[in-house]
Amino acid sequence: MSVQPAHAQAGSGQPAPSAAGPLLELRTVESGYHKQLRVLKGVSLSIMPGTCVAVLGSNGAGKSTMLKTIMGLVEDEPRKGTVWALGKDVTRADTERISQAGIAYVVEDRGMFPDLTVAESLRLGAFHRNDRAAINADLDRMFTYFPRLAERLKQDSGTLSGGEQQMLAIARALMSRPKLLMLDEPSLGLAPMLVEEIFRVIRAINREGMGILLVEQNANQALAIADYGYVLEGGRFVLEGTAAELRSNENVQEFYLGVRTGGGEPRLHVRRRRRRWN
Ligand SMILES: Nc1ncnc2c1ncn2[C@@H]1O[C@H](COP(=O)(O)OP(=O)(O)OP(=O)(O)O)[C@@H](O)[C@H]1O
Ligand SMILES: [Mg+2]
Repeated sequence: MSVQPAHAQAGSGQPAPSAAGPLLELRTVESGYHKQLRVLKGVSLSIMPGTCVAVLGSNGAGKSTMLKTIMGLVEDEPRKGTVWALGKDVTRADTERISQAGIAYVVEDRGMFPDLTVAESLRLGAFHRNDRAAINADLDRMFTYFPRLAERLKQDSGTLSGGEQQMLAIARALMSRPKLLMLDEPSLGLAPMLVEEIFRVIRAINREGMGILLVEQNANQALAIADYGYVLEGGRFVLEGTAAELRSNENVQEFYLGVRTGGGEPRLHVRRRRRRWN
């Protein structure tokens, strides 16, 4: 397991990744807001085809900023570093081009168009496709993943429950037939049973070969389905490793998995152990 800070890795003089290489590669990406605020402080990450990668981090760590930066949704960012999607340099590219390159993004608040019905929203996900038969087959596949959507085709998406909206957001993203699906906290605000259901589908999609980048505070669920993971704190990756390595890491257990380490009876007024990542 690497405990090297990400900014000590990959420099900008490296050759471009090949099209058969990673689905997504970030090289020492720095990004933030309004030119002054620096949120990501040199983040490097790589996702190979067919793998599920989790990024764990608490509130404000920069998880959403990372996904927005990848998608070209933060103006003039990243200010430093490069973003590669399927062998193409998409640093500061238009969001449309990044999505055409094969990356789909489910935003943290699910990004519903409340006045569109479920059926209209799903078709919107496939708007740049014209393979009608395949679109219909994909719709059927979405209804296998999420039978509830099939029962609500004519319902306005704004009136769906939170869990149903998450299902629709994932299904809509899948309708674009991406190579990589990026999900920003799909478990947020959902009851445990719904979280289970959604994670079962994410795992199934991944098993069928789709790459997944899963950003989560719910480390238990994320590490249960991920192959590899990174821990983001204060805009830097402080740890990375296989999901098994992260699950057995004492700091991850204590700060992200809610496991009490050190044994013994809990004592009052014990100072919280400081995180030490290396
Ligand atoms: N549009 C914005 N303008 C200015 N600052 C922002 C903006 N969006 C986010 N930030 C700041 O960037 C930092 C990282 O925010 P970000 O949303 O990326 O965190 P996060 O890890 O996704 O947190 P959460 O788990 O709460 O969603 C925070 O300090 C936040 O206040
Ligand atoms: Mg966020």
